[in-house]
Amino acid sequence: MSDLEAQTREMLQAVSDAADLAALEAVRIAVLGKKGTLTELMKGLGAMSVEERKIKGPVLNGARDQLTAAIAARAQALNATALNARLAQERIDVTLPARPEMRGAIHPVSQVIDEVIAIFGDMGFSVAEGPDIESDFYNFTALNIPPEHPARQMHDTFYFNEKPGGERLLLRTHTSPVQIRSMEKSGPPLRIIAPGRTYRCDSDMTHTPMFHQVEGLVIDETAHMGHLKGCLIEFCKAFFEVDNVRMRFRPSHFPFTEPSAEVDIGCRRRGGELRIGEGEDWLEILGCGMVHPKVLRHGGIDPDKYQGFAFGMGIDRLAMLKYGIPDLRDFFEADLRWLRHYGFAPLDIPSLPGGLSR
Ligand code: DAH
Repeated sequence: MSDLEAQTREMLQAVSDAADLAALEAVRIAVLGKKGTLTELMKGLGAMSVEERKIKGPVLNGARDQLTAAIAARAQALNATALNARLAQERIDVTLPARPEMRGAIHPVSQVIDEVIAIFGDMGFSVAEGPDIESDFYNFTALNIPPEHPARQMHDTFYFNEKPGGERLLLRTHTSPVQIRSMEKSGPPLRIIAPGRTYRCDSDMTHTPMFHQVEGLVIDETAHMGHLKGCLIEFCKAFFEVDNVRMRFRPSHFPFTEPSAEVDIGCRRRGGELRIGEGEDWLEILGCGMVHPKVLRHGGIDPDKYQGFAFGMGIDRLAMLKYGIPDLRDFFEADLRWLRHYGFAPLDIPSLPGGLSR
């Protein structure tokens, strides 16, 4: 075997011994680099006699081609091995169950909204919406709250700056404007609930400047106070998940309903615990009544033909009562520890057949 053959074999061996791409690159430089073994040998061709070059030239070129091909093949093999190793390492088993620890959670307000929608949805109500930024007309005037009415101050309204035409938009102080919007949009008969954000300039343990309400509205030719009572009693039983709830419809006044009532539910406070549905104490949970004829007229509905009832309740308050959450302000602190404690599993969607809360 000639020296060159022996050298070529050695170099080929080094190529196949290269354990990874870095080692292979080192071999390539050592063989074919500027000062590589083969490069040096090829440089020697120039100094040879024509005869000698004729013999050695093809041999050296052959060796170079052989090595170049061997290096390329080895590189390909090493790349494939590296890729397979990575695929094996980064493999995920998609059949494994989701991680058991809960990272986020459904906020009690969202949970209660879903529960309320599930209950009223079952009674045939659909969900309506209106904007948070309202006009004076929808928030007050159309609801039979005229400009000088004391309810306008009572509401502690957040007003926007006056527009050039003199109009002042506001953040809605209740969800009742959705009543008018729904009357205008769909006309009678109507059976809607409207959950959403509401705003009043107020802040203490049970009040925050932004809070949530759900409005209810039923309009047809025959709806009466008995329907209103039945509907709200059914709602309370379903919502508080008890067979019986003591309830009291107390005469009250709202400009947009006539007659109007406030609804209290029976409760018992013992130790630190609050039990809903039984007991000697009362807790106010909502306002309601028969829709005032003027309100129907503002919504474009003929009060001589149609009548109906409406109700409005605080969602945050419902959440505090049902889930025993003491301070309303914590609802909006975005504290993950609070959310982990009071929140709900994202996949447990409330439904009447499946259960509201668990
Ligand atoms: N809008 C009232 C409030 O924010 C609640 C209310 C009372 C709504 C009676 C109604 C109703 O629809 O009939 O205090």
